[in-house]
Amino acid sequence: MHVLSFLLTSAAALLPQVDAAKGRTSTSWDCCKPACAWKTNLTKAKASGSVMVCGKNDRALSASNGEKENTACASSNAGNAFLCSAYQARPVSDTLSYGFAVTDGVENCCKCFELQWTDGPSVGKKIQVQVINEGGNVENGSRQFIILTPGGGVGPNPKGCNDQFGYDWGRQYGGVVKAEDCVTLPDSLQAGCYWRWNWAKGEVNGWNIEYNQITCPEQLSGVSGCKA
Ligand SMILES: *[C@@H]1O[C@H](CO)[C@@H](O)[C@H](O)[C@H]1NC(C)=O
Ligand SMILES: *[C@@H]1O[C@H](CO)[C@@H](O)[C@H](O)[C@H]1NC(C)=O
Repeated sequence: MHVLSFLLTSAAALLPQVDAAKGRTSTSWDCCKPACAWKTNLTKAKASGSVMVCGKNDRALSASNGEKENTACASSNAGNAFLCSAYQARPVSDTLSYGFAVTDGVENCCKCFELQWTDGPSVGKKIQVQVINEGGNVENGSRQFIILTPGGGVGPNPKGCNDQFGYDWGRQYGGVVKAEDCVTLPDSLQAGCYWRWNWAKGEVNGWNIEYNQITCPEQLSGVSGCKA
């Protein structure tokens, strides 16, 4: 009996994704100041540090200016706060990527998650993301993670990318439809566009995942400037 319970405990300890929850991925890049950069939202999430925000020229604003500068996407009194190109997804290896994401609930600001696709062309591959924006939904027990992907669709706020760059961003939801279209994006944002088609090998929208919260890798919190 003792041997059996020891074996069961050991086996459970070896299972990597015991607490995995279900979700799905989509893509977006709207060039807007991320919601987690507002001090009030960071405080609600009990996160430390601040979320890096960039000016129209893609240079980081100081932490205090980043917290208070209004988003370029505001319909009135729009400010000089945009999304930094440093937030685009990037490959680490053939099976792992790093990126930043949008998910439901400001309490998730600055938390990090490991997502593993359970279907689609990237089945088995993982991406570790830090949440820097709030949006998407939880539907039928499936949490949506919107991976910040240039050319992944400007979504409900088309003003930001239009003001920052102009250009052709593809479908409002879903963005460009193939790797060859990434050349229509600004030079500084093409790598993240190619990440989707060349590394993830497809649309990424609507693909199912299992996910776990993880300790934020320095490669993510070191870019954003925040931790939770
Ligand atoms: C905080 O996050 C919410 C939810 O995304 C967003 O609507 C709001 O603009 C953010 N900023 C403040 C100051 O609450
Ligand atoms: C949730 O379930 C409803 C009813 O079965 C379905 O219409 C809807 O597409 C589902 N949503 C997601 C995101 O799977």
